[in-house]
Amino acid sequence: MSFFETIGSGPRHVKDRWTHRYSQLDDRTGQEDVTGKVVVITGSNGGLGKVTALHMAKRRARVVMACRDVTKTENAVKEIKEKVPEADLTVIRLDLSDLDSVRACAKEILQKFPYVNILINNAGIMVTNPTVQRTAAGFERHLVTNYLGHVLLTMLLIDHLKLGSPSRIVLLSSMAAEGHKVNPEDLNWEKPKSLQFLHFGPYNDSKKLLMLFGKQLAQRLEGTQVHVYSLCPGVADTDLVDSFPPMVRFFIKAVKIQVGCSAEQGATTIMYCALSEKCAKESGKMYHYEKPWVRANRELEKEGDLAEKVWTSTEKLLGISFDTYLSPA
Ligand SMILES: NC(=O)c1ccc[n+]([C@@H]2O[C@H](COP(=O)([O-])OP(=O)(O)OC[C@H]3O[C@@H](n4cnc5c(N)ncnc54)[C@H](OP(=O)(O)O)[C@@H]3O)[C@@H](O)[C@H]2O)c1
Repeated sequence: MSFFETIGSGPRHVKDRWTHRYSQLDDRTGQEDVTGKVVVITGSNGGLGKVTALHMAKRRARVVMACRDVTKTENAVKEIKEKVPEADLTVIRLDLSDLDSVRACAKEILQKFPYVNILINNAGIMVTNPTVQRTAAGFERHLVTNYLGHVLLTMLLIDHLKLGSPSRIVLLSSMAAEGHKVNPEDLNWEKPKSLQFLHFGPYNDSKKLLMLFGKQLAQRLEGTQVHVYSLCPGVADTDLVDSFPPMVRFFIKAVKIQVGCSAEQGATTIMYCALSEKCAKESGKMYHYEKPWVRANRELEKEGDLAEKVWTSTEKLLGISFDTYLSPA
């Protein structure tokens, strides 16, 4: 049944059908021990990232909040400390849309911590615009913020993740990735395309790329104890669509009331992928509602060639060879 068919089948039915899939984080707080583990979370000053930081802090992890907006991060730290006074939080500035900032952030993490146990590549933007949005360096904004910045950060931290193994890399993809087609020859949206108002192509691309990258990375890391997980958190009530026009936000709010969940509930699959013993032996798969997402994983199995092409195109865009980072020292 398609998404809209599901919505059309009646509000109460729809709500029951969707919301029973989400559980509550507090149900499980304290189950998996992360005492002293170094957990890096990008974009942890708001939304799903902040909830994840809070729950990691409750479990006594050493949480690295890699964030862009300084004031927002200070407020998030204050909020978490009010709930968990003993929280071990380190703030490191990170603007994923600027690769120099990504390098500086990675350098600071390497200097301050002897290893990393869990890297949660959570930060993301979703902007709708009739024209392609570019950064000063010429990257399409979603591509660099959601995808390239995280890929570079992951590569720069890979040795530290190996030192912290068994360790995990968690990638925030989306349901927008499933069934979405990317052009590996034009990841940076250089070729002329007619974008329409409310065009989600660049966002969907970035989320599909994360999913493909996760699969490839897992293969390249086989034999190490560094495992990779991609996920969709569900339709969570966060600030993700705050830049949308008011009418569109209103519509999305209405959809969220029917099929959505709170940020707390959305973060359950992040915590699952980061910690659960149930998926400890798996790597490279896509998850939703705290379990493997069968359809998306079937798609990944069929898209091995595409993933290879994307891997190479990503190296070109970043101007690096991933082998340099991934081959054993
Ligand atoms: N909410 C959903 O329904 C949903 C569904 C599918 C996937 N996701 C994914 O879940 C992730 C978290 O999103 P959310 O829903 O929690 O949205 P959110 O409330 O808007 O949070 C996004 C986070 O990303 C950070 N961020 C944005 N641009 C950044 C940059 N250039 N450098 C560093 N950090 C940056 C933001 O911090 P600043 O304000 O400081 O920039 C914020 O902390 C995203 O990757 C999103 O695509 C969400």
